[in-house]
Amino acid sequence: MGALWHGFADMGVVERDGAFVVARGEGAYIWDDAGTRYLDATAGLWFANVGHGRTEIGEAVAAQLAKVAHFSNFGDFAAEPTIALAERLAEIAPVPGSKIFFTSGGSDSIDTAAKLARRYWQEIGRSSKTLIISREKAYHGMHVGGTSMAGIPVNAEGYGELWTDTATVPWNDAKGLLELIEKIGADNIAAFFCEPIIGAGGVYLPPDGYLAEIRDICRDHDILFVVDEVVTGFGRIGGSWFASTRFDLQPDIVTTAKGLTSGYLPMGAVFVAPRVAEPFFAGGVWWRHGYTYGGHAAAAAAAHANLDILERENLLDDSARLEKTLHEKLAPLADHPKVAEVRSGIGAVAAVQLADPGEAPSFVKTSGARHLGPRGGSGRNADLAVVRDDGRPGAGSRRRFRCSPADAKPVPMEMPQRRDRIRRNRRRIRFFGLTGTAVRGISSVLSCAATARAYRS
Ligand SMILES: Cc1ncc(COP(=O)(O)O)c(C=O)c1O
Repeated sequence: MGALWHGFADMGVVERDGAFVVARGEGAYIWDDAGTRYLDATAGLWFANVGHGRTEIGEAVAAQLAKVAHFSNFGDFAAEPTIALAERLAEIAPVPGSKIFFTSGGSDSIDTAAKLARRYWQEIGRSSKTLIISREKAYHGMHVGGTSMAGIPVNAEGYGELWTDTATVPWNDAKGLLELIEKIGADNIAAFFCEPIIGAGGVYLPPDGYLAEIRDICRDHDILFVVDEVVTGFGRIGGSWFASTRFDLQPDIVTTAKGLTSGYLPMGAVFVAPRVAEPFFAGGVWWRHGYTYGGHAAAAAAAHANLDILERENLLDDSARLEKTLHEKLAPLADHPKVAEVRSGIGAVAAVQLADPGEAPSFVKTSGARHLGPRGGSGRNADLAVVRDDGRPGAGSRRRFRCSPADAKPVPMEMPQRRDRIRRNRRRIRFFGLTGTAVRGISSVLSCAATARAYRS
């Protein structure tokens, strides 16, 4: 029995089956402790934007650790790379003149944004504006604020009363937001949180015109528009640093993490537009909020090195190209009798929704999906990774399978005792990822949300 308590896991199952031990990574691949290679279909947890094994990021971190790992950015303290990183992020911010508040990850960024939104209204004398609105299917992290905003109801179950001043609206219909505003009154609403592409909730692209519509509704009703770019930021969406830029969302607050360091060290950043930052910078407000590791100096060094790679290798342009490739290669799957829907076309994310989710493994075996090759769909050396978990976003207790054109049968792991474990396993498959594309280091992800029933091997 191990001591490690995994996130998003049924620990009884993990205890029974053992952990999937990740030994190393390079580019878009990882290796387990038995030396088997897998395509990293999920880019870790949507973060490996420049791919694994970039030694230059490690070197930058080592150099910073040798100077000072971290001290604090409370009060007037800050380290050089942290100050420089804030300037660098402000340069690329969707709204010019933004201020940057550093956090330790996405959930920190979300809770920071939620507290900031409420506090902003209080500072300008409109303290009745407290309600936070999110969308059905939304995932905004697992701190108490983010859990309260969960659009995936099961993620908020079992904790009693969390933040009560929250509400959800349909994910795809701006009218739902308008109706709620009319019912509650804009004077009681602080902010609307929105993922430009719903990620962990199943990869749902915004309907045409939806993002502009909700942006305008927020503007018209004086509701802060918070865009959660924890997944979509830093190159996951083709052609620009942020979805907010690409879709001209002019957000009041942007939450980020993941791609900021490509996961080499934990770090997040909240981008705050000038009008929201202004009361806090005018003097006289001491905002009692911050995290010990916010602006961590070594993490900031990792972020600089990561941004250097994104810039030097033009990965934002590459991801624009990649999103077309993914779309072209996946779209024909929509004609497959077992497929209900293909969701792709924006960014290095996509989903294939199965008509009968219980079919997931056989579909994987028989469909052309496996022919998406690592070199843009050539079909050569194609690996297919199937990630099973328990219906929650994130790793969960997942198992990966390999299959290739040469061997149409998925091979559940290489070690016999693992095969036995798989056979015993009757867990539900909800998510599987597949990809075959590593374009100049971008470890692309097709997170295929299969609301699957049971897989019995
Ligand atoms: C859209 C979104 N927001 C927030 C988070 C929370 O980030 P973290 O897990 O780094 O706390 C996630 C994590 O997947 C996410 O997808």
